[in-house]
Amino acid sequence: MRNMERPNHGTRTPAEGRPANRAIEQQVAQHYARTDLEQAILDALVASSKDPAKLTPADLAPVDEFHTGGRQATIDFAEQIGFMPGMHLLDVGCGIGGAARFFAAERGCRVTGVDLTQEYIETADALARRVGLAARVSYRQASALALPFDPGTFDGAYMMHVGMNIEDKAALFAEVRRVLKAGSTFAIFDVMRSGPGELRFPLHWAATSETSFVVSAAEYRSALEAAGFASVKERDRGDFARAFFREVVARAAEAGRPPPLGIHILMKTDVPQKLASYVSNLEAGLIAPVELIYRAR
Ligand SMILES: C[S@@+](CC[C@H](N)C(=O)[O-])C[C@H]1O[C@@H](n2cnc3c(N)ncnc32)[C@H](O)[C@@H]1O
Repeated sequence: MRNMERPNHGTRTPAEGRPANRAIEQQVAQHYARTDLEQAILDALVASSKDPAKLTPADLAPVDEFHTGGRQATIDFAEQIGFMPGMHLLDVGCGIGGAARFFAAERGCRVTGVDLTQEYIETADALARRVGLAARVSYRQASALALPFDPGTFDGAYMMHVGMNIEDKAALFAEVRRVLKAGSTFAIFDVMRSGPGELRFPLHWAATSETSFVVSAAEYRSALEAAGFASVKERDRGDFARAFFREVVARAAEAGRPPPLGIHILMKTDVPQKLASYVSNLEAGLIAPVELIYRAR
């Protein structure tokens, strides 16, 4: 209960100030940024016969859910959590904001997303305006290790495929706990270690092992408990992930090329290599996406 005992809850933690964290964060943001993202997405929408002036949140789903299983994984994850209409949620590492728009449009929540990558925040904002959700979602550039919010701001939080870029899980979870109300849910869907062996790179979250911090569910559990969270439930999504990628590969082989609109737009470079490494690590049992649902004590 480290956080709850902390007498003076500031809005920033010492973790952000650590030079090692700052240097990693710069590399991570550079890894994701590409400078022309919104235009690339609009071009791909046009190539997919969508009118950028008449978009729905669902039209964006092939590109704005940057995690294993895309929109289906978010729907499955949401079913495990039970966030209620009217809740104010925090999306930790929101990317270009697809899951935030999903929880706003489909669950009636208000969502604030934070992400390290400035270009993702700008794109998330632009896409929310285009689909008419700007009043219910907002996005801010910030580190998950130094959230710019007062203690107890949020009714719930979630994080999808972000922890792999953050070494200091204890600081991360302490910071999320700080901004949550007691009794609220924190749901995680991250890629975790499921067996020993050297990971193959590049991966979509890191070109090399230097900015990749994939750890076991057991390590998540102990960091979460130390930060003041209690376990509610968890689910291994390895089988779901393997089935998902087998289908992606089969569809691409049949079509002869990937569809214009897809998360390859976010991966920027080395897309076939990143996918091949991910699938190889997954099929070898080295990694698996896992859902962990916790409650703030
Ligand atoms: C694989 S993407 C997932 C994005 C989004 N959660 C989704 O599922 O579509 C990982 C995201 O985590 C963000 N990220 C990594 N480290 C972060 C940190 N320390 N603080 C905030 N965001 C971070 C990256 O900028 C990137 O947008």
